[in-house]
Amino acid sequence: MALRWLCAMLLALPGVWGVCQQPPRFVFAEPPTPLKESYPTGIELRYKCRPGYVMASGKSPKVTCLSNSSWSATSDFCIGKSCGLPDIRNGKFNYTTNLLFGATITYTCNIGYRLVGKPSAQCVLKDKEVYWDNIPECDSIPCSPPPVIENGQLINGDRDFTFGMAVSYSCDRDFALIGNATIHCTVDDNLEGMWSGPAPECKVVRCENPKVKNGKRLSGFGTKHTYKNTVTFGCNPGHLLNGSGVVTCEADSTWKPPLPTCDPIYCGPAPQFLFAESERAVGDSSLAGTKLMYRCKPGYTAAHGMSSVVTCLSDGTWSADPDFCIRQECPHPMIENGDVIADNFLFETVVTFICHSGYELKKSSAKCVVSGDGVDWDTAPPYCKRQFPDVLCGEPPTIDNGMHNGGKDTEFVHGSTVAYKCNDGFILVGEAFLQCIARDQYSGVWNKPPPECRGGANIIIVGILPLLLAMLVMNI
Ligand SMILES: *[C@@H]1O[C@H](CO)[C@@H](O)[C@H](O)[C@H]1NC(C)=O
Ligand SMILES: *[C@@H]1O[C@H](CO)[C@@H](O)[C@H](O)[C@H]1NC(C)=O
Ligand SMILES: *[C@@H]1O[C@H](CO)[C@@H](O)[C@H](O)[C@H]1NC(C)=O
Ligand SMILES: *[C@@H]1O[C@H](CO)[C@@H](O)[C@H](O)[C@H]1NC(C)=O
Repeated sequence: MALRWLCAMLLALPGVWGVCQQPPRFVFAEPPTPLKESYPTGIELRYKCRPGYVMASGKSPKVTCLSNSSWSATSDFCIGKSCGLPDIRNGKFNYTTNLLFGATITYTCNIGYRLVGKPSAQCVLKDKEVYWDNIPECDSIPCSPPPVIENGQLINGDRDFTFGMAVSYSCDRDFALIGNATIHCTVDDNLEGMWSGPAPECKVVRCENPKVKNGKRLSGFGTKHTYKNTVTFGCNPGHLLNGSGVVTCEADSTWKPPLPTCDPIYCGPAPQFLFAESERAVGDSSLAGTKLMYRCKPGYTAAHGMSSVVTCLSDGTWSADPDFCIRQECPHPMIENGDVIADNFLFETVVTFICHSGYELKKSSAKCVVSGDGVDWDTAPPYCKRQFPDVLCGEPPTIDNGMHNGGKDTEFVHGSTVAYKCNDGFILVGEAFLQCIARDQYSGVWNKPPPECRGGANIIIVGILPLLLAMLVMNI
């Protein structure tokens, strides 16, 4: 009983006894045969690569029985043989691991090609060699024969068409080709061949000869217009193009976009000027290009080099020369005994006058106003009048042996002067001139006392003295 138990324990713990049991199994290699029940510690078994595998370089195919009764081996000492790159034309392949024995690859065809056969392959073993078990074909995808059209034909269409090939059409004389002249063979999502578009149409296209009111053609002058012909329009002066200036004759024999219109351009009411008015009345709108003659208002005259014509422009605004009428000038006023104060003498200017001292102004200003065809001052030129016109002096005083020149019936007004002179043989002593000055608001007075006329005798002595002297010398 005890022995049995011991034997069982020894079987369960083989290492204890320094032996290894069954050597390990590998997919890539097999141990030498025949296999034994047990192997002693330290023994090396030389494995052999299984078919499809070759020895991995630098690795040992030896498996050793260790002292603790387990087998030791280097990992993957045999590796699969390579199937190499599969030769697939017009396609490619893809793999997840490698191209070695046992690997699987998937094929895809280039665009325009369709895979014929199984899409995957495995690297398999046959007669001790590895190779791909399937290499499919990538066939180019064919298109059905190109469509036949009416009133036109295929150019070089008598052949087979596969992906990428193109075919062209032409139309019979007088027929317009609508659409693409060339279509090519392509593929749909299901890798079926299809044409890139519908075949073109051959149609008779005739657009009517286009006319635009108030406009003219700038190009496309012919009268017959067929598919894709274009005509360009411009508008007459005073009109604005509304729509497209260029139209094209389309497949349905109409112009696209629709023919434009030439809409008249209007200006608003005629402009108003301070200095001029229109010679004729116009309404609230005038066609572009309208010209209005203006005439200068009274007090103004046409400015040199300026036009008095106002024009309605094509942008709907009125245009005029600036200040085409200028103010007329009044004659330069003159005032005696006074000054004129003014910057200018133009129409509507007010000038002021001042008098020199001693003179009184009868009117202080004048305005340049319209007068007849021109301008003139609104009042007669002012004048400066002597001040104190009512102040009178009495007759100037008379003197002995002399006289003054104031007449008997003269009025001696303020400012007037009289002159004195002495009779022969008398000498004037004092001022010879007297002036009448104001004493107050109403009466005047002579400004100085009159002179004197003196000494008639002295004149005689002066005359006789040389005579007496002469007589004395001559002892008469
Ligand atoms: C036996 O020993 C080796 C190294 O000496 C060790 O790597 C291995 O894990 C051991 N095996 C067991 C079953 O103890
Ligand atoms: C390989 O092919 C599969 C399916 O054919 C695809 O899903 C995958 O992205 C491809 N891998 C590469 C690396 O091209
Ligand atoms: C003509 O072909 C071009 C490109 O090939 C395409 O974009 C266009 O839509 C085609 N036109 C018609 C009318 O089919
Ligand atoms: C242009 O013409 C269309 C109709 O022909 C009209 O509705 C539109 O107001 C016009 N545009 C101008 C700016 O006159």
